[in-house]
Amino acid sequence: MIALEQLSPIGIGTHQIDRVERACALRGLRCALEHGENFLSTGTSYGPDVMETVSCLMRSIERERIFLCVYIEPSVQSGEEVRAAVEAYLRRFGTDYVDCCQIHNPYETALSLDTVYEELARLREEGKIRFLGASNLAPSALEPLAQQWDLRLFEGLYNFECRNYELEGVTAACRNRGIRFVCYQPLRRNRTAQKNYPLLAEVAQRYGCTQNQVILNWLIRWKGLQVIVKALSLDNIAANLAALDLQLEAEDYRRLDAFRCPECDGIAVDWNRSGVGIPIHLLANQF
Ligand SMILES: NC(=O)c1ccc[n+]([C@@H]2O[C@H](COP(=O)([O-])OP(=O)(O)OC[C@H]3O[C@@H](n4cnc5c(N)ncnc54)[C@H](OP(=O)(O)O)[C@@H]3O)[C@@H](O)[C@H]2O)c1
Repeated sequence: MIALEQLSPIGIGTHQIDRVERACALRGLRCALEHGENFLSTGTSYGPDVMETVSCLMRSIERERIFLCVYIEPSVQSGEEVRAAVEAYLRRFGTDYVDCCQIHNPYETALSLDTVYEELARLREEGKIRFLGASNLAPSALEPLAQQWDLRLFEGLYNFECRNYELEGVTAACRNRGIRFVCYQPLRRNRTAQKNYPLLAEVAQRYGCTQNQVILNWLIRWKGLQVIVKALSLDNIAANLAALDLQLEAEDYRRLDAFRCPECDGIAVDWNRSGVGIPIHLLANQF
């Protein structure tokens, strides 16, 4: 089994992998795996075709080769449904255990976090889940949940423009607690590079790489975070992995750190269902 310390810096995102033919998606997923990306995050809200593609992948590789993270989706109404959701993943993917299970979207989940995690902890005791994680938590929810249930992974929005979880102290809290912070939408679906920010363009030009490579390198090598990227094209997979080999000067990393995105900073995040602002999981798609 893959230990948390052995997780690859870049993991495999699965959102919208059904936008290409299954054979093509599988080729991309296998290519990422063969090049050392060893964890994959997925969930039923990505749709039946995504589930089927992941199932094909899981059934065609040695189980030990991949660290599989799955979501509990917001539709769950009871502890029994939490259990049923996990057991459905196990059946679907032909496995006895998932490596990590996390609530996907607490903002839209009516069931209390306590009920969700009580059941997940039981499943962990039974060996059906190895580690508990969380995604899209409000900053105030992290500490109590982490303390009570020993969270080991946090999947959150973090990229060059969206620094909210850092500004709210969540990335630091995760580091202090030994929770792996995994950035989702690290490239903001290629929209960050399309903005062509002068700083990113200049740094990329100086190191002879792309803006996306600068972003991934900064997140992983300087910020010490992990990322999940959805990349199915072989060129993108190779480019993303090559980003790990770059070495930027400390001053450049500091300048990247200091960047602020006025568009993103101008959007209020509604962490606790106040009705004012945008839930964190929708933030990256607003600009
Ligand atoms: N927990 C949550 O609430 C949550 C929310 C959103 C996402 N996620 C997870 O995080 C994963 C990553 O986020 P995401 O898919 O939304 O966005 P992303 O990884 O930032 O961007 C994916 C898009 O960027 C393209 N891309 C990848 N590498 C590239 C490169 N080097 N140059 C140019 N384009 C590149 C991909 O194209 P190709 O496919 O053509 O290569 C794809 O269209 C998701 O797939 C999902 O698993 C989780």
